[in-house]
Amino acid sequence: MAGFCRNAQGVACLGSAALGELLDRAAVPTPAYVYDVDAVIAEAESLRAGIGLAHLVAYAVKANSAGTLVRAGCGADVVSGGELALALAAGVAPGRILMSGVAKTDAELDQAIAAGICAIQLESVEEVQRVAARARAAGRRARVSLRVNPGVAIDSHAHVATGHDEAKFGILRAELGEAWQKVDAAADALDAVGVSAHVGSMLQTPGPYLESARVLCDVARARRARASLEIIDFGGGFGIDYGDRPTAPPAAFGSAAAELLRAESLGDLRLVLEPGRALVAPHGVLVASVVQGKLSGSRRWAMIDAGMNDLLRPALYGARHRIEPLERPPGGALYRVVGPVCESADDFGEHALGDPLPARVVIRDAGAYGFSMASEYNGRPLPSEVFVSDGSVTKLSARPGVETWVKRRLDA
Ligand code: LLP
Repeated sequence: MAGFCRNAQGVACLGSAALGELLDRAAVPTPAYVYDVDAVIAEAESLRAGIGLAHLVAYAVKANSAGTLVRAGCGADVVSGGELALALAAGVAPGRILMSGVAKTDAELDQAIAAGICAIQLESVEEVQRVAARARAAGRRARVSLRVNPGVAIDSHAHVATGHDEAKFGILRAELGEAWQKVDAAADALDAVGVSAHVGSMLQTPGPYLESARVLCDVARARRARASLEIIDFGGGFGIDYGDRPTAPPAAFGSAAAELLRAESLGDLRLVLEPGRALVAPHGVLVASVVQGKLSGSRRWAMIDAGMNDLLRPALYGARHRIEPLERPPGGALYRVVGPVCESADDFGEHALGDPLPARVVIRDAGAYGFSMASEYNGRPLPSEVFVSDGSVTKLSARPGVETWVKRRLDA
């Protein structure tokens, strides 16, 4: 199926009615995430080809941890033992996995060291000795890179900006000297293979990405004057257009990064990019049923069966996702779309659903940070997930019945 998600980047679209039929045939209970697997694979392949296959696209698994997507051909950027185990089980080669995270536990470090991953990204001076100690205890060497906090502030929601001086992530430039010293002192246990940075999410243009990358190039050059280096990791953060912010496509970030590296005379380093959202967000939708309408004063509400527990982004970041009727084009009467959760923040904003209210709606651009941030709050089981390839459902994980939730909580 050539992209059922009518996304703002102009991905080819199969009408929503076809999506409705597909869900009916598979008897999928709502709320349901539906992913266009072919489009995700194509997105990943074009980015990989764009930067050159000698370099590495390490998909940020946190965006969507579905095995089908983790297997789409990229490496993996993981932030927990769970994500690491998933990536390995999905067949991602250890040499294509990087692990970030400001508070990796000893057990997680042991897991990464035993697997022999490409790099454990050190996020503090303190972490250097912790990793060295775990490697010694295991009788192995650990491949590490320093995650630099480049001191670059970006124009994004405060919750997703990570590369400024106040952030908990990475090592400040002023503290890099001390970090390298500690790494070198632990040369019996550590291989210092790289440097990395990640300034945050939802970048509209490559500008701030390159600003951070330039800082990283300076750091890499300084290090190389004294020691060898294999990889340089510019991080993720490529934005997408949720319908109101024109955004450069992933390829523009990729080619600008590869070009910069050449211009900085560092083209022989292995470039790593860590996109999450841009690879999956436009290729997933959340389908919900309209439970009922409500006319109250001058307000027209549409109550749907998906809530902030299924898609947290609007409540957490004030994010707006386009919502449209499933079986007809958007337009007509505006409705305030809200979910069933007992929180006023369970509100998806105003959308042109028209009269009469449709039976089902589609919430667009929900392929990233949707299911992966979902919870069972209010006794609501996790939503269904449907994987579509070549026009048919290839995998379906139906929403568990409430009995499973009741049993689990009863036993608690
Ligand atoms: N690398 C690192 C070290 C990260 O922390 C992240 C995201 C990524 C890569 C991938 O960033 P992306 O390309 O997806 O922007 N829940 C938020 C996004 C949080 C991103 C956290 N880190 C949202 O729904 O917008």
